[in-house]
Amino acid sequence: MNRFLDLADLTREEVVDLLALAQRLQDHPEPRALAGRILGLLFFNPSLRTLSSMQAGMARLGGSSFVITPGNGTWKLETRLGAIMNGDAAEHVREGIPVLASYCDALGIRAFADGRDLQADLAEANFSALADLCPKPLINLESAVNHPCQALADWKTMDDLAVPRQGKFVLSWVNHPRALPLAVPAATLHMAAHRGMEVVVLRPEGYALPRPLMDKARAAAAASGGSVTETSQREQALAGAQVIYAKEWGSPQHYGDATADAALRKKLSDWMVRDSWLERADPACRFMHCLPVRRNVAVADEVLDGPRSVVRREAYNRMVVQMAVLHRLLAH
Ligand code: CP
Repeated sequence: MNRFLDLADLTREEVVDLLALAQRLQDHPEPRALAGRILGLLFFNPSLRTLSSMQAGMARLGGSSFVITPGNGTWKLETRLGAIMNGDAAEHVREGIPVLASYCDALGIRAFADGRDLQADLAEANFSALADLCPKPLINLESAVNHPCQALADWKTMDDLAVPRQGKFVLSWVNHPRALPLAVPAATLHMAAHRGMEVVVLRPEGYALPRPLMDKARAAAAASGGSVTETSQREQALAGAQVIYAKEWGSPQHYGDATADAALRKKLSDWMVRDSWLERADPACRFMHCLPVRRNVAVADEVLDGPRSVVRREAYNRMVVQMAVLHRLLAH
């Protein structure tokens, strides 16, 4: 493995194998496995979990890391091709990324969606351009429509908790003060389908995920024996659910139009997960969210603090699975 950019690049068996390595590293630490290796981390956007878990995971394997957050103590980086650089960006990624890559053995990049042009974001235009500049092993730390590290951690979390492979997995839209990117819903949807689950996307009108994301998940489901459906009927969707995975995202119908999106979501304040949502779910139903989460906007305290919530385990597993990814990329 030379790059970890999309869980879809791995067969189901390869994911299972990678998760077995994660479990092995969790049970039998290898504190010298990556001694002398260096990981570079380039964050164009904020993070709590991804940044700290990548650094902690690298350190636990005996390696080290450095972090660049452009514009915060380092030069602001221009990403646009052909830009006339007379603004506040002092350096272009065309120099910056190869230079950073020359200092390390692998690079992780977080670059969220541009959020203006849906087709360009669905095509991962920005991240692909950055990836093309990196000659070293590369990890996607969240791009426009993908977050493979989160997806892998969530898969492991379900395995840890013995959530049946073919269990009912409901990915539900929840409210947020503003439109958020499609990366986590896209990656989560695909992950659950790839695992072989009965996936239901529950979302209000106006928040249907773009067809290419649904098609990708349906292709994964076809290969794994799972299924993918979508609905706006909450009661029906949640009945018998073994996992409720809440996520906020912007309306693809109003992509890049914050005003129209805000008008639509203003009427959707009841799209907040409460205990009542779990009444008809499977008795063993787990509640998942990638974090960060807005308490009492997206998810009520009673759910996040309740016995079904596994959000902290998901966050812990970020470190564990990323150690497996780093091991695969760098331990030779
Ligand atoms: N879930 C996740 O990626 O968290 P951060 O944005 O804090 O890294």
